[in-house]
Amino acid sequence: MKIIEVDHYDQMSQEAAKIISEAVCSNPRTVLGLATGGTPLGTYKYLARDHQLNQTSYTQVHTVNLDEYVGKAADHQQSYAYYMNTHLFKPVGIPHTQTHLPDGLAVNLKDEADRYNQTIQTLGGVDLQVLGIGKNGHIGFNEPGTSFDSETHLVHLTASTRKANATYFSTESDVPTQAITMGIATIMRASQILLLVSGIDKAEILYQCLFGEVDEQIPATILQTHPHVTVIADQEALTIV
Ligand code: GLP
Repeated sequence: MKIIEVDHYDQMSQEAAKIISEAVCSNPRTVLGLATGGTPLGTYKYLARDHQLNQTSYTQVHTVNLDEYVGKAADHQQSYAYYMNTHLFKPVGIPHTQTHLPDGLAVNLKDEADRYNQTIQTLGGVDLQVLGIGKNGHIGFNEPGTSFDSETHLVHLTASTRKANATYFSTESDVPTQAITMGIATIMRASQILLLVSGIDKAEILYQCLFGEVDEQIPATILQTHPHVTVIADQEALTIV
């Protein structure tokens, strides 16, 4: 894994945006795999700025997101679809039909997971996958113990993940209990992975991810076996490395 050490969150965001916009410039039909949460927000802000300043075109880009909550419509403020429309898709002008997320309102959630997995394959797979990391080492919503062979599937969120994500809801009990997430095997098929890590809260898990034994109990450790991972981490996140 290539590690790029930066001073702080803002610099991490600028570096990540640079890598993503360069990928889009060199291949306008790039398939971007995207993450939500607090970590990539600054990256999306810089991509929007770059689009305005340099007219980087996203008209042919396709996107697939890692995950979506169950029970949230795409226009619900706490859905990941809403987050992505607000922070990236509308600001950089990606046509709606080219942005893909699991449908958290699907009647049959298992079928929806299979359909989404198929969508990713039909697009030819992910060229560049942006990832954050949960404090328990989850990637996407693949919680500790998820099989490394997993494809897109329905998950029950752990208490710790629901607590961590409660910041975005009025109360912890409002946080959905289920989500549809790309599986670990699905994520690992991306040609290139960009892992973003910021803050002292992530220092311990980043250390495990980089140097711990590859173990399904810490999903992010599988990244050690991927041939093309770039980690952009700030000094706080790298404190114990
Ligand atoms: C959520 C998302 C992940 C994200 C993680 C970390 O659970 N499903 O994709 O990487 O949380 O979030 P944050 O960046 O807010 O720390």
